[in-house]
Parts: sequence; C-alpha cells; structure tokens
Amino acid sequence: MSELLLEVQHLKKYFPAGHGAVLKAVDDVSFEIARGETLGLVGESGCGKTTVGRTLLRIYEPDGGRIVFDGQDISRVGRAQEKELTRRMQMVFQDPYASLNPFFTVGEIIAEGFSIHGMFPGRRERLERVYELLEMVGLHREHANRFPHEFSGGQRQRVGIARALALNPSFLVCDEPISALDVSIQAQVVNMLIRFQEQMDLTYLFIAHDLSMVRHISDRAAVMYCGTMVEYGGTGEVYGHAAHPYTQGLLSAVPVADPQYERTHRRMVMDGEVPSPINPAPGCRFASRCPRATEVCRSEAPAFADLGGGHWAACHHLL
Ligand SMILES: Nc1ncnc2c1ncn2[C@@H]1O[C@H](COP(=O)(O)OP(=O)(O)OP(=O)(O)O)[C@@H](O)[C@H]1O
Ligand SMILES: [Mg+2]
Repeated sequence: MSELLLEVQHLKKYFPAGHGAVLKAVDDVSFEIARGETLGLVGESGCGKTTVGRTLLRIYEPDGGRIVFDGQDISRVGRAQEKELTRRMQMVFQDPYASLNPFFTVGEIIAEGFSIHGMFPGRRERLERVYELLEMVGLHREHANRFPHEFSGGQRQRVGIARALALNPSFLVCDEPISALDVSIQAQVVNMLIRFQEQMDLTYLFIAHDLSMVRHISDRAAVMYCGTMVEYGGTGEVYGHAAHPYTQGLLSAVPVADPQYERTHRRMVMDGEVPSPINPAPGCRFASRCPRATEVCRSEAPAFADLGGGHWAACHHLL
C-alpha cells in the first residue's frame, strides 16, 4: 500500500467566460497528500481553492492533468467507479447556511447517501447510525427531526460534518469549514475535525484564507495564487522559510502577538491588482504585484524549483 492517498498532477479546470474567453480557475496545479495527513491549501478569495476541491471530488470534470486516488487514476471514471468514489471522498462545505437543504430534516440530510450506497438498509439501522453520528458531532438524537433553520451556524456545520462522515469516507475536503462561524466556536469545530482524523484515520485537504489556521493543523501547506500553485512543502518549511514572494507577503500580513517582532519586521505591502483568471497574460501571475518582478516574469511562467526536502516554489527570482 502506497504511503500516498492522493496524487494530483498538472490539474486544470477551465470555465467558459463568454465571447470565447476562458477562465482558468485551476491551471497546472500539482500536489500529494499522504495517508492520514492534512494538506493546507491557502490563498486569497477567487484563487481557485474550492475549484481544486470540487474537481478532486469529481463535482467538476477536470480539463487536464491526472488525479490518482489510492493508487487508482480517477481523472476519467465510469459511473460505477464514481459511486464508490463519492462514498470515499467527501466535502465539508464553506457555507453551512447554503449547503444544507432547508426542506429536509437533519436526519434525512445525514442519511441521504445511505440508500444510494446500499448502506444501513433497515429503518432501525439507519436511525441508529444517524443518532450515532449526531452524538459524535456533539448534537442530540432529538435533533434528527428538526430542520436546518432551527440551528446556529456552528450546529449546522456539525450537521455538515456528520453528513460528510456518514458513509465512512477516507478523504475529506474541508472547504473553509469555519470561516462563516463565530470566532468563539471556530476552535471547537477545528478540534473536532482533528479528533475525527485521528480516530478514523482520515486524510484531509483543508482549505483556508487564514494562514495561521492552516499552520496549526497541516502537515504540508500549498499556496495558490490566481489559479496557479506558487509554493508547496512541509508546513514548517513553508512557514519558517517561505521562498515565494507571495507567500512571504501573506505571512508578513499575519499579525504576530509579539511587539519585538512587530518592531523589527517590516510588513511587506503587496501593491497592484490581483489579475483576472480570464485569459491570463503569459508569465508569472504574481508579476503585477511582485516586488522582485523583472522582464522574464512578464513573459515566461516560472517552473517549480526543488528547494530540497519536498519544498517547492515557482519563481524566477528565488533568493
Ligand atoms: N462553476 C463555475 N463557473 C464559472 N466560474 C467559476 C465557477 N466556480 C468558480 N469559478 C471562478 O473560478 C475562480 C476560482 O473560484 P474558487 O471558488 O475556486 O475560488 P476560491 O479560492 O475558493 O475563493 P474563496 O476563497 O472566495 O472561496 C473564480 O474566478 C470564480 O469566479
Ligand atoms: Mg472557496
């Protein structure tokens, strides 16, 4: 059994943007996730994080590249295989308000996949499993008959997690699972996800804007910018020795609770506009905002450079 659960090579997902224009939401993105590990995927709004997650889960058909899950190429799969994949790969959604069907009870939402996958066929069995999942996520069995609008954001996200775990998956895409929640309950939800990972031997792709959150929970980190991946490596390497100017800029924008550090480290200001992923210009997508950019950055896309120890960065001017 390979140590890797997921290998993604040169993944592309393009959307038509009208008048023949192409929105390159994900453009040549590669990474790996080992079994039982968490890869943190970070980047600004619109850089393509959710699209990566949805393409892995085959909600979107990839336009290029290869996805290998548990040793099997799943880039192009038939229906039977797809069904098994939807059982094994699940998603916790960004918005717990929009992602639960308001016309279904919580019990129905959690049990939705059971009949499709022929699991827990008896009524009693199904109900027991729903109760078990509700209690696992810190809710009560009485909640099974209630509707999503009767719950707070944090409770809804717990329902979303119960639904994602209902079919015993091995891989979860956690798409900014706490960004819509009150700060006071964010840690509870994250800690619950960490606990489940240990108990159920789960592998996570954890998507976030917030670099500090990803640092806390990830074994490896990947940084995206405008549809491309700019840096990838062990969390300690990426945070401790960020090589790409964009990662350095993101890190310097994170407030540090240390007045000495704040006095001695200047924040890097990233001027300029985030470029549009529609018909992107050739060259490095970060060039318009990069303090190191030169002519070559505006004409040639930088290749990924191996910095050793599984740390990679795509920049013409690595220091
Ligand atoms: N189904 C779709 N059809 C057309 N364009 C899409 C679709 N989904 C995403 N996009 C576009 O692809 C780009 C990447 O979007 P995506 O939602 O993946 O970004 P994100 O990094 O998850 O952003 P956020 O942090 O705001 O969630 C955006 O320009 C978005 O408008
Ligand atoms: Mg998103």
